[in-house]
Amino acid sequence: MSTNYVKCLVFILVILILINMCDCKKKDVKTKKRKVDRSGVMYKNPLTHGRHKNVTSKEQARGFFGSGLFPFGKVIKLFTAPGDDDGRECQPSGHAVARAGVCLNAYECHDRQGRASGECAKGLGVCCVFEVSCGNTVQNNLTYFMSPGFPDLWNGEEDCDITIHKVTEGIMQLRVDFVHFTIGQPNRTTGECDEDAMILGEGANNFTVCGQNHGQHLYYTLTNEREKRDTEELAGARGTRLRIRIRGSEMPRIWLLRLAQMPLAHSAPHDCLQWYRENNGTIKTFNYAVNGRHLSGHDYRACIRHNVGYCSVRYTPCDSRSFRIGSGGDQVQNTDP
Ligand SMILES: *[C@@H]1O[C@H](CO)[C@@H](O)[C@H](O)[C@H]1NC(C)=O
Ligand SMILES: *[C@@H]1O[C@H](CO)[C@@H](O)[C@H](O)[C@H]1NC(C)=O
Ligand SMILES: *[C@@H]1O[C@H](CO)[C@@H](O)[C@H](O)[C@H]1NC(C)=O
Ligand SMILES: *[C@@H]1O[C@H](CO)[C@@H](O)[C@H](O)[C@H]1NC(C)=O
Ligand SMILES: *[C@@H]1O[C@H](CO)[C@@H](O)[C@H](O)[C@H]1NC(C)=O
Repeated sequence: MSTNYVKCLVFILVILILINMCDCKKKDVKTKKRKVDRSGVMYKNPLTHGRHKNVTSKEQARGFFGSGLFPFGKVIKLFTAPGDDDGRECQPSGHAVARAGVCLNAYECHDRQGRASGECAKGLGVCCVFEVSCGNTVQNNLTYFMSPGFPDLWNGEEDCDITIHKVTEGIMQLRVDFVHFTIGQPNRTTGECDEDAMILGEGANNFTVCGQNHGQHLYYTLTNEREKRDTEELAGARGTRLRIRIRGSEMPRIWLLRLAQMPLAHSAPHDCLQWYRENNGTIKTFNYAVNGRHLSGHDYRACIRHNVGYCSVRYTPCDSRSFRIGSGGDQVQNTDP
């Protein structure tokens, strides 16, 4: 009947408007249109996940008509999943401060408060960059934590904390890459980070570091949230705190840390703070820098992955002064940059 037809038309219009409303924070209507149009192509694209492949247009229609407004995001997601590249690391385009993003569909990137920076998965997704600074919470894999005003230097007026939540229950470890890192030096006499410090975790499980550490990395085993709840009688999962403690005198500070959450398969072996996976590389102590002092209380293992086709490791000091082990309180230093 023609009235039905009209009703249907009205409904479709409503849906289109809703799509626009969902997207209203986006810059312009043109991009929206392109996205909606493209979704048709995406739906047919062989890159799309297996579980999405079989959805017929009838089922999609059911999604629209049957489940009301709330699952709308899911419907959109279904349209625009960037296929096998969903969740993969990607290189953002343009002048992104960070070095890597995660390939997601545009809606999901927006929804998770990421910044879309170029395309990925042959244009089916956007390279979504996650950045946080003081006071924020990390809820996505591959999140960059940066100093206030980065890439400008920061004089440091107060402590800067973030909280890291596991993106899924299966996460074992956090890999922290020090892309840039300069804060105050340790105590000259004791080597302790008693003023400025980066403190990851709380209590006896914390890892503390200060000084200059660009190029370094570490693996930190995240507490099992359930164990934590049992011991601390806290109902909500609290996550892991990462604090940059500012105590030293005014000085230029800067950091950019890449935080990747590692499932068991990508975790470092037990008891390895550092895990070198390349065929060659440089092992440095933390705060290995001109005028940098070895940090006290750093007793850890740097492990090297046994890569396929290799049978031994050759270690050489980078220069004649770069490997020194002190006795009782003296400097301890390893290889040079
Ligand atoms: C997709 O459809 C085919 C044939 O209709 C069926 O054999 C297959 O199990 C379906 N796959 C999924 C993921 O539903
Ligand atoms: C997070 O990203 C890293 C680097 O791309 C990757 O190795 C790791 O598997 C990812 N973690 C999850 C839970 O997807
Ligand atoms: C360094 O540590 C020593 C011994 O604990 C202390 O007396 C001194 O004040 C510290 N220096 C600074 C600059 O905090
Ligand atoms: C970090 O752990 C050490 C012992 O491993 C402890 O002495 C220190 O007080 C802890 N620091 C913080 C801020 O919890
Ligand atoms: C280190 O490894 C990279 C690739 O893994 C290779 O390109 C480079 O030549 C190697 N350098 C040395 C000194 O072996």
